[in-house]
Amino acid sequence: MLTRVSRVNPSNPEPFKIDLAARIILDGGLVVFPTETVYGLGANALNPSAVKKIFLVKGRPADNPLILHIQHMNDLKALARNVSRKATKLAREFWPGPLTLVLEKSQRVPQITTGGLDTIAVRIPSDIISLSLIRAAGIPVAAPSANVSGRPSPTRASHVLEDLYGKVDLIIDGGKTRIGLESTVIDMTSPVPVLLRPGGLPLERIREVIGKISIHSSILNPKKDHLKSGKGYKSPGMKYRHYSPKADLILVKGTKIKVRNKIVELARRMRNEQSKSVCIMTKNINNNYIADIVWFVGNDFETISRGLFEIFRYVDNHNIDVIIAEEMDCVDLGLAVMDRLKRAAKEIISV
Ligand code: TXA
Ligand code: MG
Repeated sequence: MLTRVSRVNPSNPEPFKIDLAARIILDGGLVVFPTETVYGLGANALNPSAVKKIFLVKGRPADNPLILHIQHMNDLKALARNVSRKATKLAREFWPGPLTLVLEKSQRVPQITTGGLDTIAVRIPSDIISLSLIRAAGIPVAAPSANVSGRPSPTRASHVLEDLYGKVDLIIDGGKTRIGLESTVIDMTSPVPVLLRPGGLPLERIREVIGKISIHSSILNPKKDHLKSGKGYKSPGMKYRHYSPKADLILVKGTKIKVRNKIVELARRMRNEQSKSVCIMTKNINNNYIADIVWFVGNDFETISRGLFEIFRYVDNHNIDVIIAEEMDCVDLGLAVMDRLKRAAKEIISV
């Protein structure tokens, strides 16, 4: 298939480029577009044969549902039923933005889009290109992250080219995404909402608005075997193997000094074994680290989030044997960063 690539101005998208993309979506095609979180692989959410293509191209299991992207709260009426007061409050507060709400589904949404579930996941993205595209298409756009299943979510058009060139009709290049992690997903269909995926909107901010939220057990214990059996899943996405790098990722937890010492020891050992290693550093650079690459990802969670998936792609593309990462506090965006690190980890060492 011929894949067109269109570079679009992220702060002032050229209308003729957006119209072309919207036309492709309305004709049942696939368009990759940037959002503020990660790039999405979009199709008309109400067109079952278009949605089917998303699953084929990604190699995504049919029971792993897609997020519907809309451009205005009014669009919810046709798609969701019994939207609770709390859900409305969250939508008013945080949309457009990196928050996905799981709500009861209306008849209008085809089964294939929701993986057979009677709920939908929906959000209004804040990125201007995505909003213009959804508005121009005039329909809800179903879009999972624009990676092949098992690879990290793309935060640049070049990542999308690696995975999907020749498999989609159009890739919109809008530069690097602002947040770099996927949206936060909350199930709003139970009296106490449940966090299904930590993401670009910190849990603390959501709790400030609606109070109590429980955290799904697969987030607290992402590696537990019983979770892999597929029983008791709220979000079907949880039961599938998450991205894990080709390299072995070792996550080191504990008090700061001990963690630093352990990392130095591990990096030395890797060198002796002639393994290629990458250390992911936060806070200030510690020049004791002797890994082949010491990658300073930033002091603050925003910077770390923005760069994490890029590191994952880098190590996959450069035959790195081992990644050593240090624990971060599970607060603010740190909860989402640690979630992705824990799922990617081969080994978690507590010191
Ligand atoms: O930031 C994002 O959310 C990006 C951009 C493109 O919007 N999209 C994204 O989609 O990350 P995806 O498909 O990679 O992840 C969606 C997650 C999956 O874990 C899926 O299982 C879950 O949301 N999900 C979708 N519909 C659901 C539903 N009805 N109930 C529970 N979980 C649902
Ligand atoms: Mg994904």
